[in-house]
Amino acid sequence: MVTSTTKLFSLILILLLHTFFTPFSFSSSAVSAVGVNYGTLGNNLPPPKKVAQLLQSTLINKVKIYDTNPEILEAFSNTGIDLIIAVENSRVANISTDTSAADQWLSTRVLPFIPATSVVAIAVGNEYLTTTDDGVPNPDALVRAMRNLHAVLVARGLDRKIKVTTPHSMAVLASSFPPSSATFAPNIAETISALLDFLVDTGSRFMVNAYPYFAYRDNPETVNLQYALLGNTTRVRDPKGYVYTNMLDAQIDAVRSAINSLGYGNQTIKITVSESGWPSKGDVGDIAATKDNARTYNSRLIQRAQSNKGTPMRPRDNIEIFVFSLFNENKKKGGATERNFGLFDGDGSKVYDVDLSCEFCGGTATTSFGFGLKETNGGGGARAGPSVWCVAKPHAEEKVLQAVLDFCCGPGGVDCREIYNESGDCFEPNKVVAHASYAMNSYYQMHGRNYWNCDFKGTGLVTFTDPSRQAGITALAS
Ligand SMILES: *[C@@H]1O[C@H](CO)[C@@H](O)[C@H](O)[C@H]1NC(C)=O
Ligand SMILES: *[C@@H]1O[C@H](CO)[C@@H](O)[C@H](O)[C@H]1NC(C)=O
Ligand SMILES: *[C@@H]1O[C@H](CO)[C@@H](O)[C@H](O)[C@H]1NC(C)=O
Ligand SMILES: *[C@@H]1O[C@H](CO)[C@@H](O)[C@H](O)[C@H]1NC(C)=O
Repeated sequence: MVTSTTKLFSLILILLLHTFFTPFSFSSSAVSAVGVNYGTLGNNLPPPKKVAQLLQSTLINKVKIYDTNPEILEAFSNTGIDLIIAVENSRVANISTDTSAADQWLSTRVLPFIPATSVVAIAVGNEYLTTTDDGVPNPDALVRAMRNLHAVLVARGLDRKIKVTTPHSMAVLASSFPPSSATFAPNIAETISALLDFLVDTGSRFMVNAYPYFAYRDNPETVNLQYALLGNTTRVRDPKGYVYTNMLDAQIDAVRSAINSLGYGNQTIKITVSESGWPSKGDVGDIAATKDNARTYNSRLIQRAQSNKGTPMRPRDNIEIFVFSLFNENKKKGGATERNFGLFDGDGSKVYDVDLSCEFCGGTATTSFGFGLKETNGGGGARAGPSVWCVAKPHAEEKVLQAVLDFCCGPGGVDCREIYNESGDCFEPNKVVAHASYAMNSYYQMHGRNYWNCDFKGTGLVTFTDPSRQAGITALAS
């Protein structure tokens, strides 16, 4: 058991766990991952079961959908992929009426699928405060609906696992430039304040859909294309001294400033980019909507999602990102770009080459992802070194983790001396979640790194962060 490889795992794990418990990187550095939006407005899309299976062989481990499609909820059960589900805009008013409406929604649409399906958040509406699709929105209904859903989750003991939030468009801002002086549109500021109170109280994230593409499209003369494309050659200076090399960072910081301007600067409200992407095709005149640009933007976006980088204003705030979108959706209304944000076509072929294997994590043989294509390097075994790790979810219930730990170190056959013995290399930090991570990872590596070997009643999480990229480990690994 104590081969040099397992030793290396242990060493890596110590450092991995160390980053886990460093105050500023808690639950971010070790679990940085890539989310994707899975919209279904197409008549040629593969069945959800197939989508779920294939996503499991990629670095994507969070999927956001736009409804509670039961077929999708079922398909993602026991996959290790977290799901963000949604209340459609048209249902927000109903759920805002009282908690029984919220409970009816939850119990008919969500409860049948959990815990097998890992639902981690409910997005209430989409761009609800700025949409005009469903008539004039009633801003008050939004926060009431969110409160009702949260109350129902509390009553059922699910509020720690399932967070309630709502994705906004950038149009909630009165202005976004310069980033440090951005504010919310005055007519919705009061609603946003109520919303921020809710997010602080419930530990939920502020979601924003941010598209440098549209900013470029509307001002191609003034916006530098590389700046919009997440490049790093342009420098845009904010009057407060922040220097921006790309527009997405500036957009995120504009949202941050607007939040601060309402007096929430001292609260820890995390920002999630719930949608961002670039279309590969458009109508005549959509000159930037090309496959090359889409590949450039989305490759960089995926790299960014996996990095632990913050923004100039908050360098240590890891930004959670959901790429828009998984598929081209041929039945979407609007201009051609709307139907061409996908990484994949309906038939499952790549629209352009974006590597979703763990290449960006470094070190591993690349797998190719594509519907109808077999994964080239199969289920593990022959890989050069560990490219994936299994760790305990930071907020998993301690009781369950203890049971998992007991199983791994007992019937599971893991050698747990390093964590049980006070002088063991992995005894510190002496926390159940840390010890469980050690044991779960050992078990996962022993059994060939199949996703089902990292389920552990929903408490396990496959992470692709390559510890050899972190300072100090390269030497140990070589
Ligand atoms: C909310 O929707 C549910 C399910 O469609 C329905 O039974 C209920 O009557 C609605 N409640 C209100 C207040 O509209
Ligand atoms: C800028 O981007 C290039 C190409 O992606 C990369 O090689 C380089 O390291 C980047 N420079 C900085 C300062 O991030
Ligand atoms: C925020 O925190 C700082 C430092 O702790 C304090 O000086 C400042 O007054 C606080 N601001 C608000 C709005 O609470
Ligand atoms: C703990 O480890 C030390 C050093 O390897 C060893 O001498 C000791 O016997 C171990 N204790 C137990 C309880 O296994």
